Amino acid sequence: MTETFQFKLIATDGKARRGEVSMPRGTIRTPAFMPVGTVGTVKAMYLDQVRELGADIILGNTYHLMLRPGPERVARLGGLHELIRWPHPILTDSGGFQVMSLSGLRKLDEQGVTFKSHVDGALHHMSPERSIEIQGLLDSDIQMQLDECVALPASPKEIERAMEMSLRWAERCKVAFGDQPGKAMFGIVQGGDIPHLRERSAQALAGLNLKGYAIGGLAVGEPQEVMLDMIDTTIAHMPSEKPRYLMGVGTPDDMLKSVARGIDMFDCVMPTRSGRHGLAFTRRGRINLRNARHAEDMRPLDEESNCPAARDYSRAYLHHLIRANESLGGMLLTWNNLAYYQDLMAGIRKAIEEGRFADFMAETQEEWARGDL
Ligand code: GUN
Repeated sequence: MTETFQFKLIATDGKARRGEVSMPRGTIRTPAFMPVGTVGTVKAMYLDQVRELGADIILGNTYHLMLRPGPERVARLGGLHELIRWPHPILTDSGGFQVMSLSGLRKLDEQGVTFKSHVDGALHHMSPERSIEIQGLLDSDIQMQLDECVALPASPKEIERAMEMSLRWAERCKVAFGDQPGKAMFGIVQGGDIPHLRERSAQALAGLNLKGYAIGGLAVGEPQEVMLDMIDTTIAHMPSEKPRYLMGVGTPDDMLKSVARGIDMFDCVMPTRSGRHGLAFTRRGRINLRNARHAEDMRPLDEESNCPAARDYSRAYLHHLIRANESLGGMLLTWNNLAYYQDLMAGIRKAIEEGRFADFMAETQEEWARGDL
């Protein structure tokens, strides 16, 4: 454990990196998948379980927590870690992205974002400084700058305007964050699907000498090819000695291909949300448990898995639970999916250490392509 925030590269294999982010609350083994705990809960999971599956860090959302239970209240209650009983690192997203996707009425300008709460309709304002203040009240270990993420497709003018404003907000967030040796504030590269804007954003952020950098504005409706091209373009201009976080991504295939390009950290609601909707991720691809073909199938999802949800429960039972809308169905499939995601990351880390990441990636993709057991 360290007093200060640090990133260390342990091994590289091609562009893939095996590293460690260390800070007072713990060490994050990278490449890392960070389960999403939007409102202070990784939905349908006990945090002890999340930890046991191998998560070193979870995510929280400024937008949701500022509306309920409120940052000042969380601070009075001892901070987010104390409240939710997760003593390990927490990363919080800044709020801008969630405002765009969740709140109804909103107005965005240089000062920040004004929006209507999806909880009670009340009007709120959040400036870059207030976003950092809220993340501080939550006692978040890795805080994200406030940014503006535009949905694609968008016009070049619109993408450039949002990217330039996000750069100015990054500077304001850096000042607001100040000097906190045990914590970090990450910048977020924007620039849509336009290479020279990605380059401009990455270079300007690198000049701010932040402790880590995220790539934002991807997985927002563009084809995977475009996303991967943008990762390549962006990474070429990001400092190699800092952690690189690809926001909101993705599928297991997205993660393999992104690790191959030099990404260190991921977060996504996919394993948790799709689990609650009946979709299982396995070694042999995806299985939709709602499908009638599972109704009398007594086989487990994967008898070779270490996860009880995958190994000990029949597909017939999972199918029944999901069809009957029983909470246990969502709990078991979330458990299975997070176990699969964390096992995949562990496999990726080991393969990079052993210098066989390309083979690991090819073998993993072949298994998915073989289809269900
Ligand atoms: N989550 C997924 N994409 C983004 C993004 O571009 N910005 C932020 N703040 N969060 C995200």
